[in-house]
Amino acid sequence: MTSATRYSAYDIFARINNESWGIESIHSLMPIVEKLLLNNIATGGKILDLCCGSGQLVQKLQQRGYQLTGIDGSGEMLKYAELNSPDSKFIVEDARFFKLPLTFDAVVSTQYGLNHVLLIDELKSVFQNVYAALLPNGWFMFDLRLHERYNDTWNNSMGGDVKEEYAWALKRVYDPDTRIGKIFMTVFQLMGENWQRLNDTWLVKGYYSHEVVSALQETGFADISVYSAGRDFADTQEVGTAYFLCHK
Ligand SMILES: C[S@@+](CC[C@H](N)C(=O)[O-])C[C@H]1O[C@@H](n2cnc3c(N)ncnc32)[C@H](O)[C@@H]1O
Repeated sequence: MTSATRYSAYDIFARINNESWGIESIHSLMPIVEKLLLNNIATGGKILDLCCGSGQLVQKLQQRGYQLTGIDGSGEMLKYAELNSPDSKFIVEDARFFKLPLTFDAVVSTQYGLNHVLLIDELKSVFQNVYAALLPNGWFMFDLRLHERYNDTWNNSMGGDVKEEYAWALKRVYDPDTRIGKIFMTVFQLMGENWQRLNDTWLVKGYYSHEVVSALQETGFADISVYSAGRDFADTQEVGTAYFLCHK
């Protein structure tokens, strides 16, 4: 698979993700993964982290005694994941196209990796790939930002940081008609004595909960539960984020 057909747009952000977002999110994420998923999986079980990024969740789960495989479209993100969790397996692949044999007790996908899958039919392909890789009764947990989240304060917001060796800035815009959000990312990094500028645009889709549930049902998943971050995990994650849990 070439990078043209694989989602590699996080390559320019890999170091920054590893040093900031990946670390910051894991503290609020772990209690939710524990509550929804880990109670169902025996220690030693096999877990696939889809869109695993720089591998902070993989590392935590491996340390808890599970056997981890991580998939991500960004080869640069996986370089950090391999350093963070050297006993785990990592595969550079696209969530829409990966094929793995019936192996896993659970598949997890966090921090909105699947919002980068822009069409419901492609999201359904992801679900079919997950279903094919799960053992009977295997669990699938993932999060998504819903339309209402992108259409609220996310729209027209900005972010950024300045460090000794790099600086970055992003601007977010959301079109409620197409339900497509754009994140315009710029990174400045020190290369020797010169500053190099890198740009990329990340696209996201604001899904409705009901269309995601329908796609899961059509794939064959059972006992689908949808948790609202604001309602069910107050104070830990933002309103308008949903956690989906189901099993094969
Ligand atoms: C915000 S990061 C989240 C990383 C990690 N899951 C976490 O919780 O920190 C989103 C990740 O999804 C990956 N991603 C997005 N679309 C993808 C796709 N179609 N296939 C594989 N990886 C994808 C990106 O490369 C990026 O590493």
